[in-house]
Amino acid sequence: MNIIVTDTHDLFVSQTIQTQKSTVNTFDSDAPRILVVDDHPMNRMTAAALLGIEGYEVIEADSGFTALKLVMQKQPDLILLDVMMPEMDGFQVCELLKQNEHTRLIPIIFITALNDRRARIRGIETGGDDFITKPFDHVELVARVKSLIRQKRLNEDLEHAEQVLFSIARAVESRDPNTGDHCERLTHMGKNFGEHLNLTRNQIRDLMWGGYLHDIGKVGIPDAVLLKKGKLTAEEWDIMKQHVLIGEKICQPLRSMGGVIPIIRSHHERWDGSGYPDGLVADDIPNLAQVFQVIDIFDALTSERPYKKAFTLEEALAIMAEETAKGWRNPKLIQQFTEFICSFKDWQLCAS
Ligand SMILES: [Fe+2]
Repeated sequence: MNIIVTDTHDLFVSQTIQTQKSTVNTFDSDAPRILVVDDHPMNRMTAAALLGIEGYEVIEADSGFTALKLVMQKQPDLILLDVMMPEMDGFQVCELLKQNEHTRLIPIIFITALNDRRARIRGIETGGDDFITKPFDHVELVARVKSLIRQKRLNEDLEHAEQVLFSIARAVESRDPNTGDHCERLTHMGKNFGEHLNLTRNQIRDLMWGGYLHDIGKVGIPDAVLLKKGKLTAEEWDIMKQHVLIGEKICQPLRSMGGVIPIIRSHHERWDGSGYPDGLVADDIPNLAQVFQVIDIFDALTSERPYKKAFTLEEALAIMAEETAKGWRNPKLIQQFTEFICSFKDWQLCAS
């Protein structure tokens, strides 16, 4: 049990709780950690006692400022947050935590007075997850806490699963010594070009994720093919082309990957239908896959590879124009990309 005493006045109270907990606690050390934020010591004591009996690790803060500091230090699994506090109220604390990438997934339960409708609405607006009224109903408090912590754990599992995919993608990239920081550059360029095209926030995120994940399926391509120095035989090409389908299969189980999968599957399609794996024509090719393909090709052209020098901006655009004339690319999109890349004083800034 870990109780943080935020003012000396609470020392006795905290010791009392600790004593109580030591007699009832038979839970393991990774018990969920709950931060109780209230400027009234008695309120904190009540909540801490109830939660302690249930085996939660309780930490306490007597103000909004202390709460913010403790959240960063201790990463609690849930926050029980009083609304009315001097200097910084619960709404402000909640708003700050929900805007922060590192703390936004921590569930927050507001402690409000009974029937305080305005406080509830404001709580929802600031991103609060639930409410509990004073005085606490033991059963209700525990039920709400349990449910939100379960939800948080599921969200974390999902995040971990996503992280695993990104790790695999990085491993694939490092296996291929030709690509260097290709993925990193694609991510930056994807964000900048996506903004230039006025794409939605989610589309831009998918484009950025595509930067890392588009070739994740290469994890299933044998070294003899992936790392072959010379020209691939027809059979080897067929194997290489499988990477888009393997990549799709790897990412499919995760719902959050829904927007990236079209990029993974269709980033080698061509406007005239001569690409793979489906031979899609023109706007049957998913839009994000088209957008991604343009930056993927541009980056490959302007990067040095063992078999070619890095082309200049003008050379790369000329090659892309040639390919468009052949029917491989979407003429309008190539035009937009040309305008976008030429709008930079130094075009390399758009990839960093
Ligand atoms: Fe690819």
